[in-house]
Amino acid sequence: MPHLQSRSLRIYANHLEYLDQTQLPQAERWVRCDSPEEWQVAVKSLAIRGAPLIGLSAAFVLAQYAARHPQSDWQLVSDHLRATRPTAVNLMYCLDAMEACFEQGVNALAERADALFAEDRTLCQQMAERGADLLQTGDRVLTHCNTGALATAGVGTAIGALAVAKQRGVELHVYVDETRPLLQGGRLTAWEMADLDIPYQLIADSMAASLMAAGKVDKVMVGADRICANGDFANKVGTYMLAVIAHYHQVPFYVVAPYTTVDPACATGAEIPIEQRDPAEIRGVAGAFGEVIWAPDNAPVWNPAFDVTPAKLVTAWVLDTGVFDAAAIERGEHFLGRS
Ligand code: MRU
Repeated sequence: MPHLQSRSLRIYANHLEYLDQTQLPQAERWVRCDSPEEWQVAVKSLAIRGAPLIGLSAAFVLAQYAARHPQSDWQLVSDHLRATRPTAVNLMYCLDAMEACFEQGVNALAERADALFAEDRTLCQQMAERGADLLQTGDRVLTHCNTGALATAGVGTAIGALAVAKQRGVELHVYVDETRPLLQGGRLTAWEMADLDIPYQLIADSMAASLMAAGKVDKVMVGADRICANGDFANKVGTYMLAVIAHYHQVPFYVVAPYTTVDPACATGAEIPIEQRDPAEIRGVAGAFGEVIWAPDNAPVWNPAFDVTPAKLVTAWVLDTGVFDAAAIERGEHFLGRS
């Protein structure tokens, strides 16, 4: 029996299991992870993905490694984990928290990882409640990428808000961007919408503008991988495009994230490191459904995993700590709840 469990992670005393998100929704395959090296492969391939989940799973891998190798250099391992994906700051948050326990030994590390997991579950619930407060029956909500239970220890971020609204009896219709190139929307969010019994329609990313022009979108809700001190934020590539068209069509645009996604050391979006990924992801698709390549061999590719949305396009940032709009930020309130 795992001693902790979420929709996509099972924690055992000496190893963890993850639900391989590259295989969903065709197959629900749980994979055992015994080492930092196996974790890195899983995270790079997006078998483990989503900002909070990357950080939490790293914390457990580090704690388990330390218990197995009490004499080795834990800092070196933490540094390797940290370098696996650069953009989502939740990984840095979790590893900072773990490193702060190094001197207290292996039991403290295990306890810290458990606490991070419990914290994320609470943060999910808090931000989801605040996000749900912004939703009303009849709302047609557009979302991007996957921000649900698969990506966190709890109910999720933006999808968490939809899930809590559903529990409250609010009737929504959700438009799910398929989210090229890796189709987290088409594969994972569509699967979670069905699981939550929320009515939805899948759209190709390029359809969002005409959908808004037709007056069919009331709100946009997305997650974030890193929020800067000034409110600029990184999220799955395509988010910026959505924010621009939402602004043009005067559709409210909400970012739902835990405080662990805020990076106060990052003044503006220009400072966020953006991960570049394998050109093969753009030349075709691959996954449980097989591999299809349509581009010429070696077609030159630009493949950033994330883009940065400027704060001025955001209607409000919905955090566990509160709901912040531009006026709140100007008043000197900031995302960590201290002014
Ligand atoms: O590359 P991914 O799938 O890890 O990217 C995930 C996202 O961009 C999510 O929107 C983000 O992590 C926030 S919600 C958990």
